[in-house]
Amino acid sequence: MMKTHTCGELRLRDAGTPVSLAGWVNRRRDQGGLIFIDLRDRWGITQVVVDLEAAPTAHAVADSARNEYVLHVTGAVRVRPEGTANPELDTGDIDIVADEIVILNRSKTPPFYINKDEGVLDEALRMRHRYLDLRRETMQQNIILRHRTIKFIRDFLDGEDFLEVETPILFKTTPEGARDFLVPSRLQPGLFYALPQSPQQLKQLLMVGGFERYFQIARCFRDEDMRGDRQPEFTQLDLEMSFVEREDVMALMERLAIEIVKGVTPEKRLLAEPFPRIGYREALEQYGTDRPDIRFDLRAIDVSHIAGRCAFPVFVENVKSGKKVKCMRVPGVAGQLSGTQLRKVARDLENMARRAGAKGLAYITVPTEKDGELRGPIGKFFSVELKLDLLEQMGAEGGDLLLFMSDADEIVYAVTDALRNHFKAEMELDDDLLAFCWVIDFPEFIWDEEHQRWDPSQHMFTMPLPEDLHLLDSDPGAARGSQYDLVCNGYEVGGGSIRIHDRAIQEKIFPLIGQTMEHAIEEFGHMLEAFEYGAPPHGGMAWGIDRLVMLLAGSPNIREVIAFPKTQGGTDIMAHAPSTATDEQLRELHIQLDLPEEALVLEAD
Ligand code: AMO
Ligand code: AMP
Repeated sequence: MMKTHTCGELRLRDAGTPVSLAGWVNRRRDQGGLIFIDLRDRWGITQVVVDLEAAPTAHAVADSARNEYVLHVTGAVRVRPEGTANPELDTGDIDIVADEIVILNRSKTPPFYINKDEGVLDEALRMRHRYLDLRRETMQQNIILRHRTIKFIRDFLDGEDFLEVETPILFKTTPEGARDFLVPSRLQPGLFYALPQSPQQLKQLLMVGGFERYFQIARCFRDEDMRGDRQPEFTQLDLEMSFVEREDVMALMERLAIEIVKGVTPEKRLLAEPFPRIGYREALEQYGTDRPDIRFDLRAIDVSHIAGRCAFPVFVENVKSGKKVKCMRVPGVAGQLSGTQLRKVARDLENMARRAGAKGLAYITVPTEKDGELRGPIGKFFSVELKLDLLEQMGAEGGDLLLFMSDADEIVYAVTDALRNHFKAEMELDDDLLAFCWVIDFPEFIWDEEHQRWDPSQHMFTMPLPEDLHLLDSDPGAARGSQYDLVCNGYEVGGGSIRIHDRAIQEKIFPLIGQTMEHAIEEFGHMLEAFEYGAPPHGGMAWGIDRLVMLLAGSPNIREVIAFPKTQGGTDIMAHAPSTATDEQLRELHIQLDLPEEALVLEAD
């Protein structure tokens, strides 16, 4: 081994010990007769002192070293002279007096600083030189945190008698709502594998295979539009259990979530234990989304019974026609604003609501003085009595801003979500607070207007809630699924359900989601067949590991916790993937390209 110690390890107790260290030059300071080198490795930084008189050869080498050079240093540990200790470094009480320094490799000047956070770095530049970006402290910590999280999960599940089983990457379609990535088969010309969108079918087949408790840290592939919390390939903790009901899976998963936080990031706080449970409908009605961030309490409250009696024609008409009037109370903001400022704020919020599809966004403000007037364009439409009812229902206090939304449900949800996200950005929420909650009682299907069919709200293998099973025949839109989603700080961290294990029930799903039985048997015949050989009742869940680690790290997006992520355009700009295939490769696969003109230009670039 080239190293006797790491760069994060040596302390006062090691004074006098001869050591060999190796790592990168984090910083070099030349003070003439003395050169100081901060030598960095994964574990920390140790200061090396090179004295021209005592070690002239080492000094000459140190003199030529630059940032990010790779050095091997031999010397002895010394207690730093009085007054020169560095309390910011774990190793700050000592330094190494170098006898010999060898340059193991040189480095060009990196395109960005490795040794300090420059604030917002150009992400394209970081990605092009990801191997350098990964050397930065933040990225090192993120990747280490990811390792520790996965290790914790493996140990926890091993302790609960789960088996880790690998499932194939070359498989066939496993729909989770995205497009498949296809891989052409050379041995069977004209046929394609699909990369799994999740191991869903395979884990269910493992239950039929009698393993009872399975998990996998599984790579999944989905060809879909990218966002900050979405990558075309990502990692799931995938898990399945036999002989369980919804409560069993949720209880175990909740325990896992709590233990991960306590075990891996004890500095974080959980908002509530046990995790609150919110019904899907209730989530939409109050938060406008099925993945609410419950760290803050802005909610849309139905005030139709009050607003329907005021004199504002829009509200009266809407309530008559069955639409709701919802109100959101934003505490305190209005109290601090002048009339002009308030009108500007209201105008901006109204524009935001319009972008979300609304026709307007009425508001009133609650006066800070007792006998003050409600301000805002619709205040005049409310009688004193209605105003009092409204303030009471909303729990409003002086200085609050009350925002009103009245439209079709979908639009009100979108506006609620947009307003909440807007105020959230202003609130600077605490990233050390993890607000987990469960969202349950999803509908089994969601109506797809474009294709005039039901879409599975989760996937086609979700069992309806036992009490709603009969609705598959009579009123599928009213059936609730056994799905449960784990949400944290506004992100869907995981989701699962109890599965169908009965061929007859599974066969009912296909026509509802617009698939002919013929097509279903072609794509999923193996599942139907397996259900006929003693498939046990089973259920499970999958967690987005990238999203979980992102939350634990307090990172702004999942690219920060993936060693080699793709950019928004789905490319790796370091290695240039995807890239063209050679004519030879295409010939072997019997593939002929028929590219649109824009793509030909791209390729020529
Ligand atoms: P689902 O599709 O909800 O469920 O996926 C489970 C979790 O995986 C994460 N996730 C993603 N993370 C990053 N990039 C993506 N493109 C991406 N897509 C999903 C999310 C999500 O909650 N087979 C079912 C699970 C089950 O029923 O057991 C499934 O895949 O955090
Ligand atoms: P108007 O009478 O059109 O000037 O509207 C008065 C106020 O009501 C304005 O602040 C509008 O933004 C708001 N408004 C109009 N239609 C709606 C609606 N459907 N929901 C909520 N607010 C509305």
